[in-house]
Order: sequence, then C-alpha cells, then structure tokens
Amino acid sequence: MNPAPISRRRALGLGGLGAAAVAAGATGWLGGFSGTGTGRLRPPVGEPLRDPAVLASRGGRLAVELTAAPGARLGGQDTAALGYNGSAPGPTLRVRPGDELAVRLTNQLDQPTNLHTHGLRVSPQAHSDNPFVRVDPGTSFDYLYRIPPDHPTGTFWYHPHHHGMVADQIFGGLAGALLVAPPGPDLSVVEDRVLLITDTTLDGDGELVEVSAMDRAMGRQGELVLVNGQHQPIIPAAPGATQRWRIINGCVSRVLPIRLDEHDLIQVAQDGTFLTAPATKDRVLLAPGNRADVIVRPTGTGRYPLLAEAADRGGMDGMMGGGTTASGPVTLATLVTEGLSVTSPALPATLPVETVAAGPVTGRRQITFQMGMSGMSGSGMDGMAFTIDGRTFDPARDDQTTTLGAVEEWTVTNPSPLAHPFHLHVWSFMVLARSDGAPLVGVPQDVVLVPARGWVRIRIPFTTYSGRSVYHCHILDHEDAGMMATINVRN
Ligand code: CU
Ligand code: CU
Ligand code: CU
Repeated sequence: MNPAPISRRRALGLGGLGAAAVAAGATGWLGGFSGTGTGRLRPPVGEPLRDPAVLASRGGRLAVELTAAPGARLGGQDTAALGYNGSAPGPTLRVRPGDELAVRLTNQLDQPTNLHTHGLRVSPQAHSDNPFVRVDPGTSFDYLYRIPPDHPTGTFWYHPHHHGMVADQIFGGLAGALLVAPPGPDLSVVEDRVLLITDTTLDGDGELVEVSAMDRAMGRQGELVLVNGQHQPIIPAAPGATQRWRIINGCVSRVLPIRLDEHDLIQVAQDGTFLTAPATKDRVLLAPGNRADVIVRPTGTGRYPLLAEAADRGGMDGMMGGGTTASGPVTLATLVTEGLSVTSPALPATLPVETVAAGPVTGRRQITFQMGMSGMSGSGMDGMAFTIDGRTFDPARDDQTTTLGAVEEWTVTNPSPLAHPFHLHVWSFMVLARSDGAPLVGVPQDVVLVPARGWVRIRIPFTTYSGRSVYHCHILDHEDAGMMATINVRN
C-alpha cells in the first residue's frame, strides 16, 4: 500500500481550518475549489504535458510489476484516486512485435480486479488477455502476453476488466498506454507523445464521488477531464515541428469529437492500425476505447486549444426521467507554439497498413444491444436492463461459438435511443457499412460506435487465435450492468 500519500492527503482534510484553505496553502491544488465552492478537486491547469513513465522492452522481453492501489498521485498531487504503481495513469508499456510481455499484477484494492490489453492481437487464453481471470484483493497474478512478430505497430492501452467493477476502477484512475513500436521509428516526427484522456470526479478532499444510478444508466461522465492525469496541460511546440499525438479515449462513457483550434489533424492510425494513407481532418471522433494517432504540424505562433467538442450519445426519451448524455465542449489541453520555425520530415504518402486475412465469409450473425425497463431477463441499475440479445452477461455461457479460421460478418444492431460502442477483444474487425452513412475507417479497428436506432456491419477474421473471450458495450457502466457476451472460438 501507499500509507504515506494517503495519510498526507487525509491530513489536509482535517478540521479546524477548512480543507480548501489548508490544501490551497500547502499545495496550490484547490484554487478552483476554494474559489467556486463546488466541492470538487481542481488540479492546476497550464502545466507542461508530461509523458507517463515509459517501461520499454529489452532483448525481446518486458517484465513489469503493476500494483493497483488507492492513494494515487494524480496531476502531481496525492488523492484517493486509484493508480498503478502510485500513478494515474499508470506507466506506458512499450514493446516490439515478437516480444514477450510479462506483467505481475498485484491487487491492493478492496475489490477484485484483473487486466485487459485493449486491442492487442494476443491469445485470450490462460495467462494472456483472459477477461475471466479474477485477481482478489491482496493477491497477485502473473500475465504473459506473446506479441506476434507481425503485430501492427501502434497505440493500445491496458485497463481493468473484472465484470461489475470496470467502470469504477477506470473512473478511479486505472488505465495506461501500451505501445507496440518497431526498433526504429515507424513514422518520422519531431515529437511523439501519448495523450491518454480520462475523466473522473473527485471531491474537495480528493475522494472519488459517488455515481448515481441515473449517471450509470446514461454512462457516467466525470467533471474532470484529464490528459495523462493532468488538467488542461500545455503542449509546447515549435512552428513547423511535427508532433505525433497518440490519443487514447480512456473515458468510461464520453464520446470525444476532438478538434485543434486553427489546425488540421492529420490522422495516420486508428485503434493501433495505420490507415492506408494520412487523412487530413478537422475533427476526429473517438468513442470510449478508441485511439487515433494524429500528426499535428503547428503553424504560426500562439495558443491553440485542443477541444473535445459538444457530443451527444442520445437520450432516454422519457425513460429514467428523460436523462441526456450531452457533454462538452471541454478544453483538453492547449498547444503553445513559439520560437523559430523548424523543418520537419515529410509524411509518407502511404503507410504500413496491417494485412487483413481475406477469404469467403463463412458465417453471418446479428447481435442486438438492448436497454429497457427490467422485467426482461436480468436487470441493471434501478430497474434498467442492459442486455445483448436479451440476456445479461453470464461468464459460464457460450453466447457465440465459431471455429478457428472462420471469417464472419456480424450486423450489430441498436434499437435503443443511446449510441453504444461495440468492442470485441483479440480479433480486430473491419467496418463494412453503417446505418448513419458516416465515413468508414478502412482498416481494422476494435471499437465502433453503433448509432442510436441504427446498426453497423463488420467483418471479423477469426484466423489468429482460438479460445474464449468477450464482446461488449464500451460504455463501461453498461458493460458492468450486463451488456457483455462471450464468444468461443474452437480449434
Ligand atoms: Cu477497453
Ligand atoms: Cu452501452
Ligand atoms: Cu472488454
């Protein structure tokens, strides 16, 4: 445990002087709290963006210990937030194709946890990316992931996946970046940064705030949106000097339409896979779990906010009192460009896109996300049921069974009034068509937002690994409430 940070933090909240006065005087941490009386922790803004600590493989192997515990440093301060090795987010794990990644996960929480390597093309079995593993409080588990030599190089992430507690633990601060990188650069840029975006709500004492049943039903949205655990940091840049931003949407439920003031975002990768060619965009939409690697070429000198624009995942149309999921706009960070102009390497016209198994479609399925008043099979929070094909999650049941080598087309339908992000572990998929006509990414991805009262059609090659795993809604409150199902790929 980390008794020292916790007791230091607790000491700040003791009586006599108000917590805000003491903390603000001691750390400068609660300026927003003391000024506005919102009772919310507001870390300082405008600090230079820090990269999380990087743990990189050597000689074909990376062996790390990750300890999940409360009392994390967050935004440079002690809080009751959860962290890996005392920090939220946890360290960035950096491996190469062909490496072995060994993680000893130690649980110092008061509830079970485990680890999911989101997007990695690794086995779902045994000690690999197995979502059925349960690591009880006070125990450790040794994961061993074999990264295949042909694994795409790109941006992935890790987070807990113990059913029923995923949203709380990620909201608490448990997440980290996981990069698969070649020995040399796979793209020549001047700066290469991780921007892991998370949200949470902490009270003035740095304690996590209770989340209401309504917020869980709609998908909670934290009041504090952080980049690498920092509140609205600045990203320093020189004019002309290209930066690769590996943007990870690690929020529990927020959809992030990301835009950089007065700049295009040149997207080069989605969900850890290079696009066929750089795509110039004025905004990039990331559902929870999605990643986008974008190139920013700063022009001129000045301050340019990086924004998550207003987003709406839908509403409840009278159910639950007609709650809405609207959010934003939110300032994530500010690009600050100054100094002499720099010449950057040109971007390549084409990118090293992942080869995808082709072949005839061997099976078709329809999957349906549903939410409604309970009385259906299973029930979620306070009378709401969150199901896939009418059933809540049962880890012992095989919901889909297929065979290794199958190439399937799934139509994921969503008759509900909320958009739900569909995520499948291990086997990445190509989006073939979608009901809203939004542009297709064109390369494999692992999360796709299924529009409210709409559908997406995807092609999944089950050609890499056999074993059991899961697919689910990546609004993690919904997943915890049962909107998850199993797939068994037989040998
Ligand atoms: Cu995930
Ligand atoms: Cu959902
Ligand atoms: Cu998952």
